[in-house]
Amino acid sequence: MISKTYTLGDYIVNVIMICMGSSCFSRGNVHNAEFIKRYIVETGQQDNVALSGCLCRNACKKGPNIIVDENMISQVSPGILPDLLDQLLGNR
Ligand code: FES
Repeated sequence: MISKTYTLGDYIVNVIMICMGSSCFSRGNVHNAEFIKRYIVETGQQDNVALSGCLCRNACKKGPNIIVDENMISQVSPGILPDLLDQLLGNR
């Protein structure tokens, strides 16, 4: 699923951006952001994942959206995040 990775020194870095536009934020990204942050810490992947917020990506109706390595993933919820993050980041 990951189409592009970035390197930083010896690390492979995945970039996760969480849309913090008002629509995605109110549709659930406030909770998704907390879940993703906790997942990264609990799985010890702080050196492998760059996490940030971003402004509206003009796909509000599909939200809440996150962007992983330039791929938008829509209708994200804490219910799908464990499998999604395991799939994206779990094979380290
Ligand atoms: S608020 Fe997230 S795409 Fe518009």
